[in-house]
Amino acid sequence: MSTQKVRKAVIPAAGLGTRFLPATKAIPKEMLPIVDVPTVQYIIEEAVASGIEEILIITNSNKHCMENHFDKDYELEARLSESGKTAQVKLINDIANLANIYYVRQKEPKGLGHAVLCAKSFIGNEPFAVLLGDDVVINKGGQPALQQLINAYDKHHASVVGVQTVAEDQVSKYGIVAPNRNVPADGRAVKLDNMVEKPKQEEAPSRMAVLGRYVLTPEIFDLLESQGAGAGGEIQLTDAICRLIDTQAVYAYDFEGIRYDVGDKFGFIKATIDFALERPDLRDQVADYLKEIAEKMK
Ligand code: UTP
Repeated sequence: MSTQKVRKAVIPAAGLGTRFLPATKAIPKEMLPIVDVPTVQYIIEEAVASGIEEILIITNSNKHCMENHFDKDYELEARLSESGKTAQVKLINDIANLANIYYVRQKEPKGLGHAVLCAKSFIGNEPFAVLLGDDVVINKGGQPALQQLINAYDKHHASVVGVQTVAEDQVSKYGIVAPNRNVPADGRAVKLDNMVEKPKQEEAPSRMAVLGRYVLTPEIFDLLESQGAGAGGEIQLTDAICRLIDTQAVYAYDFEGIRYDVGDKFGFIKATIDFALERPDLRDQVADYLKEIAEKMK
């Protein structure tokens, strides 16, 4: 049983973003801003707040702007400094100093499992976190979602997938977990028997869906290497985790927080409204506007 700390995280961000075309033709969906901050920056901030020291982003040939966003920009800094915009200079420098970020390209979008496999040599032989590049989780006043999963990993020394309960008609969109009914739940953590990627509603083993946060043991890489294509013809992370369950314990953790699927148009709109309402500089204006619309719709 490994007692290593979770220090590294992988953010897969090499998907095609087909649900968000045409915006994602030239801009990765992970760079779409929620108010004025790109989605992937919220995810990196969550990883850093959860104690992660090194982050690998899985990108593709279309994602240079992500690398530029987290890099220094001397020209912009000089121009802002010349015009006395010190607050903005700090804002852009803080982004460049957020974390140690590395990049590797997934040459073809062969699925999430394949994207995670691209992190094999970066991770080596230690437990690691995966945060999906388009899933933002906010737990106001509480621990970040990833921190909650890392705590569960530290307790059980086993892989942990982050889950929340979804509506019955939504199960076919997600990886759904099957808890082991013989092992009592430990708070919000349950031991797993199985997982199914995008099951039909009538075949789903539960309504607990995997929502973009994982802590995995490095044994997952050998399984991903031999993993054939699954749902949608893609190499699925869920299928490899299923096989991991045959050889070691895997838990699901029902994390606290509101999760936004920013890769989905409605999820993106909800995130934009909720985040704007949390911003002191925008809250009143946005709230008044929403009331105005609600009034018109009566
Ligand atoms: P999604 O299924 O949400 O991403 O994958 P997608 O394929 O871009 O979405 P649509 O359906 O076409 O709109 C979840 C995460 O895994 C990454 C995505 O970038 C996203 O952050 N991913 C997916 C990869 O990195 N590589 C892949 O081959 C597939």
